[in-house]
Amino acid sequence: MLVYLEDEPVAIYNVGGEFYATSDVCTHADGPLSEGKLKGNTIICPWHGSCFDVTNGAVLCGPATEPVKTYQVVVEGVIGRVV
Ligand code: FES
Repeated sequence: MLVYLEDEPVAIYNVGGEFYATSDVCTHADGPLSEGKLKGNTIICPWHGSCFDVTNGAVLCGPATEPVKTYQVVVEGVIGRVV
């Protein structure tokens, strides 16, 4: 799911009922991570296949070499906020 935090595109992920958020912008060549496939806690960039751990932004496979920015998701009842 893609949302915007001010002007920043942020991808939201549901991993087994826990919510995580990263920048939507892949650190390799700006691919849209919200359009990638989520497998467990790994998001796979749709453009060149880089893999990131959505829980901490770490690169799990290239070609990306830099981690993706993460955000905290706070859920209060049925409302979720990215902070
Ligand atoms: S833009 Fe994401 S792997 Fe290239």
